[in-house]
Amino acid sequence: MSKRRVTYQHTIEYEVINTSDLFHPQNWALLSVGRIEDARRFVVVDENVERHFSVEIRNYFSHHHIEAKIVTFPGGEENKTLEHHLYFLRELDSFPIHRRDEPIIAIGGGVLTDVAGFVAANYRRGVPHIKVPTTLMGYVDASIGIKTGINFNGSKNRLGAFHPPQKVLLDKSFLKTLPRRHILNGVCEIIKLAVIKDAGLFDLLEIHGARSVDAHFQDEEGGVILDRAIDGMIDELQPNLFEEELARRVDFGHTFSYGLETRHEAHLFHGEAVLFDILLSAVIASGRNLLSDEETERIFRLVVSLGYELDASLLDPELLWASLTERTYHRNGLQRVPMPRGIGDCVFLNDIKTDEIEFAVKNLEDWIAINYDHV
Ligand SMILES: NC(=O)c1ccc[n+]([C@@H]2O[C@H](COP(=O)([O-])OP(=O)(O)OC[C@H]3O[C@@H](n4cnc5c(N)ncnc54)[C@H](O)[C@@H]3O)[C@@H](O)[C@H]2O)c1
Repeated sequence: MSKRRVTYQHTIEYEVINTSDLFHPQNWALLSVGRIEDARRFVVVDENVERHFSVEIRNYFSHHHIEAKIVTFPGGEENKTLEHHLYFLRELDSFPIHRRDEPIIAIGGGVLTDVAGFVAANYRRGVPHIKVPTTLMGYVDASIGIKTGINFNGSKNRLGAFHPPQKVLLDKSFLKTLPRRHILNGVCEIIKLAVIKDAGLFDLLEIHGARSVDAHFQDEEGGVILDRAIDGMIDELQPNLFEEELARRVDFGHTFSYGLETRHEAHLFHGEAVLFDILLSAVIASGRNLLSDEETERIFRLVVSLGYELDASLLDPELLWASLTERTYHRNGLQRVPMPRGIGDCVFLNDIKTDEIEFAVKNLEDWIAINYDHV
């Protein structure tokens, strides 16, 4: 029997760019990839963004003589479905873009960029796309990497692809209209990064976080926090874009949260589930002397200062254990749970036991009862 070997190397390169006034006719960022002569663009826009920018978006493309098909999308986890995915594919197929140099433009939150990215990955075996995040979750996390996907068969992101964008365009002014709960939702991912890799970012959150949340990150310090979080995210993702390494620091907060957000989809946003996970992990880390009492206290104090609502009744040790078991399977048989070691560093645990989870839930319930009147 003869054996043949096929190898091919492919470089992935894309820019993550800060911009402003994205729909100003003089801003070329949206058209900086692909052809612009006699050109078309398939543009997917979050419904809530379209409400605010309907005229600007249309004017932008007509000003540049681009034939644009603008399709709106209702954000929200419940819409991250195969049905929406197929809907976009049909809409796209009835407006056949040039598959090499007329990128799909995805303007919206993490749900939209995940779905539109998956459309770009599937259509004609892959077409280019540009991501424009309009939520904080998208801005600091969902739009930065190359993961796309939709929920399927009751599981989050069960169908998906690694498909890099051509560009990611960051215009933080979109955050002005984002409801406060969604701002806080995105901040959870910033807290995650701060705790496991960037003590300086944690300090910034402590000092300016509450004011920046109030200002929807339009303030100068808010901009510094966002830039630092994105730099940190890129730093973590870049060497491991395809997740060959399964022990990932950015998975901090993404072990117990998986079960929580799946069961409580109607009540919990992704970041809120991540925050529960961060706090449970902080208790476990403290129990193992990975965090001092003072460091643990700082994490909990930050959460209070930012004004999060926490409903302890959602915590269920059995659910959290099932979530850890599922994530262990996902991580190829080892728990690989990132745990803070001090603030700004982490280790990976492979031996978390049920009683540790029960202990963490009990502690967190007690803490919520003391700190939140409504519980
Ligand atoms: N691909 C990745 O690496 C990655 C990473 C993190 C999260 N995610 C995914 O991101 C999703 C969550 O993203 P999300 O929190 O952005 O949710 P989302 O996309 O559903 O947006 C949240 C809400 O904000 C609205 N909205 C969007 N932009 C707005 C604006 N500028 N003003 C007012 N309202 C606006 C949307 O209509 C929606 O109602 C999850 O599905 C999660 O799995 C993906």
